Amino acid sequence: MTDFLKGYDIQYWLESCPQGYLEDTQYGHGASAREPDLVLENPTLREQAIGTTVQLVVGERCALAASSGLINAAPDEASKRFLATQTLDEARHVEVFTHRLYDLGVKKGELEDVIAQYANPNLVHFAELLLERVDAKDFVAGVVGQNVVLEGMAFNVFEMLQAANRETNPKFAQTLAGTIADERRHVGFGENRIGSLVREHPERKRDIEQLQKEMSYFMLATFGDQMRQGPTPEQVSEIVTASGGTPVRQAEWQGLKLSEAAPEELEAVLGDTILKEFKLRLERIGIEYQTPERPAA
Ligand SMILES: [Fe+2]
Ligand SMILES: [Fe+2]
Repeated sequence: MTDFLKGYDIQYWLESCPQGYLEDTQYGHGASAREPDLVLENPTLREQAIGTTVQLVVGERCALAASSGLINAAPDEASKRFLATQTLDEARHVEVFTHRLYDLGVKKGELEDVIAQYANPNLVHFAELLLERVDAKDFVAGVVGQNVVLEGMAFNVFEMLQAANRETNPKFAQTLAGTIADERRHVGFGENRIGSLVREHPERKRDIEQLQKEMSYFMLATFGDQMRQGPTPEQVSEIVTASGGTPVRQAEWQGLKLSEAAPEELEAVLGDTILKEFKLRLERIGIEYQTPERPAA
């Protein structure tokens, strides 16, 4: 086995993650950090926050099921150990985002109903597709689906959310920052592991390209749906102004002022960024991006 796992062992994980950037956090943020009053008090903003957080919980539950399932499908010991650390990361992500739902006022007894109500059907379908492959112990398909497609694409969304919340909601932004640091390891593993596999078995290349094509549609469709839902940034600014606050205008991401952008602009920039970085990642792995087709209804 090649040295693709340099920097992906348990010792590295311990030092950088629990003993590193997560030290002194509680559920991913500073112990005294709270959701902003306006988010808790304004029904539109609260519902938007719940809707976004539900997608995070659904995505992270999928990653938890996939990473734990892949431990027993992995053909080598080093991958099994990495996936064990990833399993704990994903369980933590499920926990911190579930906790955010409680902080937003969701009652414990309502949790599953709220998740079922807001879960994006495209994301649910993606999870079913991925977990079918994991259940079949198809290691390559599982790693491509999880560490390349799901995490590679969600990475940019986490970064955008983090930029948008840095000023207005430091608690949520810190929770996201820790998640982003974890996800960076997970996508790095996917890139390294699948990259070495393609080099060793070039005959698997077409197969992997086909998997990417099949799976990425539902991720892109989820992002599109979410961008078009909820209040526009302009409406959010109006709510903030009406409550006597000053809308934060400096939040920028990829050169776009997040508080002023129209939903279509946000969707276009997010789509461009995701695809640009995703294509670069695939290039490093040694496979060519395949444009997904809208599946037959
Ligand atoms: Fe995660
Ligand atoms: Fe992850």
